[in-house]
Amino acid sequence: MSLLDRAIAAITPPESEQGRAEARQRAEQCANQAPWLLLVLDHHRQVDDAFAAVKAASDGSTRQKKLKELAVLLTAHSIAEEGVIYPALSDSGENGHATMAYTEQSAAKLQIGLLERLDPMSQDFEDKLGHLEGAVKHHVYQEEGTWFPELIEDASAADHKLIEQRYREEFDRYFRGGSVGKGSACRWRATFQRERSALKTTLSARNWIDDLRRTSVHALSSVRGLA
Ligand SMILES: [Fe+2]
Repeated sequence: MSLLDRAIAAITPPESEQGRAEARQRAEQCANQAPWLLLVLDHHRQVDDAFAAVKAASDGSTRQKKLKELAVLLTAHSIAEEGVIYPALSDSGENGHATMAYTEQSAAKLQIGLLERLDPMSQDFEDKLGHLEGAVKHHVYQEEGTWFPELIEDASAADHKLIEQRYREEFDRYFRGGSVGKGSACRWRATFQRERSALKTTLSARNWIDDLRRTSVHALSSVRGLA
């Protein structure tokens, strides 16, 4: 596995540093028309920094801590893209881009999980981290250079607004425990309490009817006995 990771890390990302810088520049220009892309770009920069922090850690426990921070950030970002932006890509007719995006992010999640199982100061860890970083850089290059600028051209103003709102919600739900998530939990609890209270009322009404029926039967028997 280590040899494979080392080989893959050596050939990814296939594009040059210059190519990635140009893709980011293009995305920054497009972001003026769609603020959701500003958020995405900010998260992409944070991911770059998080990788650098893992690599710079000089001992095992710091490296594990930095890996956890990278994993949380990458997962929050990917969940938001998968729930909001990739469906928009597919809806705009770019099913191929959407499918590729989901596939690449699933592979990244798998690699993060495998990294957690390795000795953080080992060569295997460094090789796999290099493999993952190369794959993420390539994925980001495609998003910034092609997929997202094309989506900005294709989507309507209403779509852009929806994407921004939903991207924020999904990112925050995972990254910060999300106000939307807490709100949903509160709404769910309130509904549950309402339904439980309605059930109690129904049960006591049913008991009352049973009591009434028993009393009536008893009264009827008594009347018949008198007759
Ligand atoms: Fe992304």
